[in-house]
Amino acid sequence: MDKKEKLENLNKKWFEECTCELKKTATQAVPGDGNPNAEIVFIGEAPGRSEDKEGRPFVGAAGKFLDEMLEEINLKREDIYITNIVKYRPPNNRDPSPEEKASCREWLLEELKIISPKLIIFLGRHAMNNFFPELQISNAHGKLLIKAFKGMSPKYFFPLYHPAAALYDGSMRDILMADFRKIPKVLEKIENP
Ligand code: URA
Repeated sequence: MDKKEKLENLNKKWFEECTCELKKTATQAVPGDGNPNAEIVFIGEAPGRSEDKEGRPFVGAAGKFLDEMLEEINLKREDIYITNIVKYRPPNNRDPSPEEKASCREWLLEELKIISPKLIIFLGRHAMNNFFPELQISNAHGKLLIKAFKGMSPKYFFPLYHPAAALYDGSMRDILMADFRKIPKVLEKIENP
C-alpha cells in the first residue's frame, strides 16, 4: 500500500472514530491534504469557515497568503502536505479547547507517521504548543527545534507565526515572510548536518 492509500484508510477510520465534540457543529471533517511523499508537513490550528465548507485545509484567506509565501521559495501546494491539529471547525473560529485538541491528536500523529517528513513546520502557537507546550511563539518563531518524540520519526521542527495573524499586521507579515525564506536553508541543514 502506498502512502496515499494509507492516508485514505486512516481518514476513513478517523471520520468514524474521532470523538471530537466539534463534530456536532462542523459541516464536515477537514483532513490533511497535499503530497503524501512531501519532505515538509505544515501543521495549522483548525479549519475556518471556507475549509469547513470545502473539506480542505487552508483554502481561505490564510491559505492564499500561504500560497504566496510558498511561491517565494519556489514551492507549490502540490510539493507539501498540510494539515491541522484539530480536524473540525470550532464555532465562530474560537480557539480549540484542550479536550478538542486531545481528541484529534492521535489522528495527527498517525498522519505524521505515514508521511514521515524531514521537517514539520508549525503555523502558529497552537500547533507548536501541541508538541512544545513550554515554548512561546514570540521567542521560538524562525528557529529550528530538534527533538525526538517517542514513536515519531520526524525530529526537526520549525515554528512560524500563523498566516492569519500576520495577514493584516504589516510588521508580523514581514517577520513571517523573513522566517519563511529561511526554509530552504533549514532543509539543507537537515540534509547535511
Ligand atoms: N487556519 C488554520 O489553522 N487552518 C486552516 O485550515 C485554515 C485556517
